[in-house]
Amino acid sequence: MNVILLGPPGAGKGTQARKIVDSYDYEYISTGDMLRKEVQSESELGQIAKSYMNNGDLVPDKYIIEMIVTSLGDLDSKNLIDGFPRNISQAESLDKKLIENKQEISLVLHMYVEDKELISRLSNRAVCVSCQTPYKLKFPDEINEITCINSYCDNSSIKIREDDNPESVARRISVYKEDTFPVVNYYKDLDVNLVDINAHRPEDEIFQEISKFLEV
Ligand code: AP5
Repeated sequence: MNVILLGPPGAGKGTQARKIVDSYDYEYISTGDMLRKEVQSESELGQIAKSYMNNGDLVPDKYIIEMIVTSLGDLDSKNLIDGFPRNISQAESLDKKLIENKQEISLVLHMYVEDKELISRLSNRAVCVSCQTPYKLKFPDEINEITCINSYCDNSSIKIREDDNPESVARRISVYKEDTFPVVNYYKDLDVNLVDINAHRPEDEIFQEISKFLEV
């Protein structure tokens, strides 16, 4: 069973994903989180990915597809996939892998928000240095006052993501429109169960709507 979260940077995919895994039995697979861990550990992939990510560009498909395919698990796994597929070629690779695994996409949650709100959200976001949970800063110095609320993080500090600067945010939004948004129509054409979610609403209201589709 595979649920995909699609949406522009700052739509709240990571926020909703954490609510979903807290309430439902899904394995959370986030390509962005996986890549940031690679960067943090200075692995070979991390060193390759870093400049693409900081510029707001997509990391080349050959690295991403290999990384995700090994994470999809066995036939019975329930995956919540955030940040993948990011273009048609990735969507086709995912289809191929799911057919091999005798799995399918059960639901695509397409979260949409207008650009102005995305830019505002990303200019006030910080993330936990350990688990990458996103936080909304009410004022810039709050970054020194907040620690991660998750008990397993043991009061980890939070930091600004390197790609949350105005230039990278603009680039990420433009890459989303050019490369990723076509994936929405790709799934609609394939008659995959896709729902459009207005994500410019309070977080809990969005989660309530998403829950209705997960409980069907
Ligand atoms: P990735 O980590 O996937 O980032 P993204 O898509 O840019 O999305 P974000 O994490 O920025 O936003 P989000 O939608 O999760 O929002 P969040 O919940 O944090 O990718 C990063 C990079 O990795 C890419 O640019 C690329 O280089 C590379 N990459 C990743 N996957 C790849 C792939 N498949 N192929 C190639 N390259 C890949 O929320 C944002 C803020 O808003 C937070 O402060 C939050 O508190 C707040 N917020 C959330 N919901 C609401 C709400 N309803 N109302 C008000 N505020 C809200």
